[in-house]
Amino acid sequence: MSRIPDAFIDELLARTDIVELIGARVPLKRQGREFSARCPFHDERSPSFTVSPNKQFYHCFGCGAHGSAIKFLMEYDRLEFLDAVEELARRAGMEVPRETRQRNQQGDFQALLDTCAAAAGFFRDQLGRTPRAQDYLRRRGLDAAVIERYAIGYAPAGWDGLRSALATDPGRLALLDKVGLLSKSDSGKVYDKFRDRIIFPIHDRRGRVIAFGGRVIEKDDSPKYLNSPETPLFHKGRELYGLWQVRQAHAKIPRLIVVEGYMDVVALAQYGVDTAVATLGTATTPDHAELLFRNAADVYFCFDGDRAGRGAAWKALEAVLPRLRDGRQAYFLFLPEGDDPDSLVRREGAAGFDAQRRRATPLSEFFFAEMSRDIQLASLDGKARLAERCRPLLAQIPDGAFRDLMSQRLAELSGVGLQAQPASAGPAATAPRGSAPAARSSLVRTAIALLLQRPTLVHCVPDGYAFGELQQRGVPLLVELIELIRQRPGIALGAILEHFEGRAELPALEKLAVADLLTPPEHWQPEMTGAVLRLELETLRQRHAVLAARLDAAGTVAALGATERAELLGTLGRIRALEGEIARLARAPAP
Ligand code: UTP
Ligand code: MN
Repeated sequence: MSRIPDAFIDELLARTDIVELIGARVPLKRQGREFSARCPFHDERSPSFTVSPNKQFYHCFGCGAHGSAIKFLMEYDRLEFLDAVEELARRAGMEVPRETRQRNQQGDFQALLDTCAAAAGFFRDQLGRTPRAQDYLRRRGLDAAVIERYAIGYAPAGWDGLRSALATDPGRLALLDKVGLLSKSDSGKVYDKFRDRIIFPIHDRRGRVIAFGGRVIEKDDSPKYLNSPETPLFHKGRELYGLWQVRQAHAKIPRLIVVEGYMDVVALAQYGVDTAVATLGTATTPDHAELLFRNAADVYFCFDGDRAGRGAAWKALEAVLPRLRDGRQAYFLFLPEGDDPDSLVRREGAAGFDAQRRRATPLSEFFFAEMSRDIQLASLDGKARLAERCRPLLAQIPDGAFRDLMSQRLAELSGVGLQAQPASAGPAATAPRGSAPAARSSLVRTAIALLLQRPTLVHCVPDGYAFGELQQRGVPLLVELIELIRQRPGIALGAILEHFEGRAELPALEKLAVADLLTPPEHWQPEMTGAVLRLELETLRQRHAVLAARLDAAGTVAALGATERAELLGTLGRIRALEGEIARLARAPAP
């Protein structure tokens, strides 16, 4: 995911005092070697949020939130990965390695931002000079405070108002072009892209203007809305209009309401519904879904009640499904024919809109309604078809209670559960679905959990360990973990998880990282030693079985090749020795 060298992240996390970082935002109380607080990521009365300085890790036993200092900044300050890294680096007095900074500043990033800021200033200034544009906004019910908050402006009617004001030299002209504010005619003439339009600046997550939307004032002009093209600053599939303003209004965002238009966001804000954001003339993308849930646990998608609206809602559902960890919820709000959020809130006020919102359809209901469309649920055939349709989608929901409930509902409707056919598990997914890690433990999982929770236990693994050859789920992951810790001595849990960021194995690792090991910490070392011995034993037994099968096929020991004969004997001998060692370890007094 990141191009930042792992070693840099390690050092950054090692130099960051996670207790100080979190303590500056959440009041922490010392509790032995750890610190605790009421969780900042969910509402609770008694503290179940802990911060461990040794592990460079935080974890909430209530809602499951956990991670490194980087993750904390991403979730709490709602920063992007690179921004969180830069923030920590600044605090630690470290330089983020060049490679990434260049990527960040590619194409003179700052100059492009400055250009957008200057253009936004120009448009606002123009609004102040244009009574006709002010009248339009007044007719749409917007007051000065909301216009100010959304930095709404006006692009003048001529061809080169912006151009002549800002493109004072060729360099600036090129910048204006690069941020998408200019158009070019067939004959090569360059002119303002936005003309005689109300301008809605689009802010990024740090409140910087990165793009614009423009609405016509005259009814007959078209297109009604014009948006900035994709630029180095702006990727419409990743931005949400109005998110910055919602963040400014709420320390903790209670919910997000996703609407279709600029005017919907602004009108809702005008009437006091200040949690609305809009996708920018596109369907909801997976990036949008991620961004939405990173900011709020409850997300309401607001669409027209017509067929297009339901289609758009289904797209949103597909983007959201793989991100529905427990605690996150999505709802769908279908508006009456002819209404949009703007017209609704204008007519019925915030209270009326909220009443509609509270009647929104939960995702589960919408899901099964859509899936059972044109299926005869009364027939056996229909039930089978429903199960077949649902399975691949339900398999995308992360492990947890919500997925179980959805499977249960499917079972009720169809008589066939999700379990009947195993979902395609990710590579080396160590945890069988839906199990509490420690309760249904395997050796591999125990070893991984121990190493995550105390990486120094890697010294219990002998140099020439053989279990890398063991044919068993999770072994490649265990080997990778061992090699990682060996290569980077002193690495803590937070940095280990950062290493696996973006990998399919991450969720399984995160679970094991906080799994209750059921043995007290003073037993962890013998437990690790024992796990390693047993893994070695299993490896030898697997090998022995292969050799024994060959022996069977050959008929007699004499018929085997000399090397195989020697290996068979050697393997048997080592199996006996290991069994002895394991028995001794089991008899050894507790430390
Ligand atoms: P709508 O046509 O529903 O407009 O477009 P609206 O939000 O109700 O706007 P008003 O109330 O007439 O001012 C919804 C969104 O679709 C995109 C814009 O992002 C708009 O906010 N859109 C619409 C375009 O990109 N281009 C268009 O020509 C129309
Ligand atoms: Mn509208």
